[in-house]
Amino acid sequence: MAKVAPSLLAADFLHLDKEVELVNKHADLLHVDVMDGVFVPNISIGFPVVEKVAAASTKPLDVHLMIVDPAKYALKFASIKGVGMVSFHLEACPEPVELLAALRKTGVKAGLVINPDVPVTALFPYLDKCDYILLMSVFAGFGGQKLIEDTYDRIKCLKSEIKRRGLDVEIEVDGGVNMQNAPLLVNSGVDIIVAGTAVFRADDPASAVEALR
Ligand code: DX5
Ligand code: ZN
Repeated sequence: MAKVAPSLLAADFLHLDKEVELVNKHADLLHVDVMDGVFVPNISIGFPVVEKVAAASTKPLDVHLMIVDPAKYALKFASIKGVGMVSFHLEACPEPVELLAALRKTGVKAGLVINPDVPVTALFPYLDKCDYILLMSVFAGFGGQKLIEDTYDRIKCLKSEIKRRGLDVEIEVDGGVNMQNAPLLVNSGVDIIVAGTAVFRADDPASAVEALR
């Protein structure tokens, strides 16, 4: 059974307490997108909001950094109580070994992310340095996009390399996940499903989380 990580980006920002409560009750993780307007053409949230949300959340925060020079801020996110996972993009940090090790040292799980146009094989040299890989199934920057179809093959390719080497690395998928494609993603080898629109914009978000799982 896959873990479900609702993405805060699609939540009602005027009522974050209510949205966090939903995740506390029904989901496994809370996915938080941090965008700097430079690495991606969008700006989302930063430390003050992440700190408040982390304090209210009983589920670990899964922080997805879409920022240039992630080494500058990643450890500060990792130090927030309640943050359990921090990932950053390989495109923004082509020499990720040191930062992955530094993140792990703080006690959080360390993840590497790639956009859909980066070959999965680019991750292979770093698989034994990561706790999880976040595969983008849309181009990072915005919620509400459609999942790119070759995501399934990319997941399978990554999964078989992880298995072949006997590694303990989870695969997370992010972007355009819904009730229809979630079973296909899980069958392809996904361990953690991120879903923004499909959860927070659903008529019944609690049932949406159950359905995704
Ligand atoms: C996109 C973000 C995603 C986004 C997913 O850059 O990384 O986490 O919130 O939203 P949906 O599920 O609506 O595609
Ligand atoms: Zn994300």
